[in-house]
Amino acid sequence: MEINKIAVIGAGNMGHQIALSAAISGFQVTCTDTNADILNKAIQFADSYLTERVNKGKLTSEVASQAREHLSFVPTVEQAVAEADLVIEAIIEKLAVKRKLFAQVNKLCPAHTILATNSSYIVSSKIADATTRPDKVCNMHFFNPALVMKLVEVVKGPHVSDETVDSVMNVAKKMGKTPVLLHKEIYGFLVNRLLQATRQEALKLLDMGVASFEDIDTAAMNGLGYPMGPFQLLDLTGVDLAYHVGMEKYRESGDPADRPSPTVVEKFTKGEWGKKVGRGFYDYE
Ligand code: NAI
Repeated sequence: MEINKIAVIGAGNMGHQIALSAAISGFQVTCTDTNADILNKAIQFADSYLTERVNKGKLTSEVASQAREHLSFVPTVEQAVAEADLVIEAIIEKLAVKRKLFAQVNKLCPAHTILATNSSYIVSSKIADATTRPDKVCNMHFFNPALVMKLVEVVKGPHVSDETVDSVMNVAKKMGKTPVLLHKEIYGFLVNRLLQATRQEALKLLDMGVASFEDIDTAAMNGLGYPMGPFQLLDLTGVDLAYHVGMEKYRESGDPADRPSPTVVEKFTKGEWGKKVGRGFYDYE
């Protein structure tokens, strides 16, 4: 199936950049968020990003103005998904909230529409049965920042049709991304399983008082060649996200080892959620 119209639900950290990236690639995009401030920020970001790219010679003014014309920010989910061929959900990482949204979207969008979740950890089989079209519900996992990062993980759960996977892989390619296909659902997909191992160890070393978070970042960058340290990445992806992911995993497994680390709990409680709020492990003010 050819995808022309994409709806992005949630204009936060991930959603606003997924929407803009799709619009720059020629898709018609509608983006919505329940928080009007976040939606306004997304509009301002789109305007200033496109202007800056044109000024830097990275985009032609034709492509930029076409992208802006193709991108609309709307206040309700209903308006966003009414004509969509593909819906990409990028809201809070909580299973119950996502299921509720998918049930709602299922009723509001056309029968042919594919519903994808950008979730970092929740496999689509946990959401698909909230809809009447499980064969069209899959994971399409972008990376942060979505305008820059090329990788997209597409996951073919047991309920997902080949047509759905093909369409979603093609959308990712048309967006200039490099999609990889997982033939099985697995917690954390590929990248987050690799990342989690490093992050857990970094937090453990910090909690044990072995070194400062700055020095652990320095070690990862200079000893392992990582482009950024685990704490810089935590600030970028959001301490709140790490907290919710840990809590979801703990709720599911009941294993105390899956709980978010004491440092993550402390930062989450203090509201030091990372770059998006101006303070996380590092200070961005
Ligand atoms: P965020 O908290 O920055 O943005 C989520 C947005 O969704 C908020 O602006 C919120 O107002 C909005 N929202 C919540 N419920 C809504 C609803 N029912 N309808 C419309 N909007 C609603 O979160 P972030 O970081 O963008 O994460 C979103 C999803 O993307 C999560 O599932 C996360 O696991 C995933 N993800 C996050 C990455 C990251 O680095 N932050 C990377 C890859 C995936």
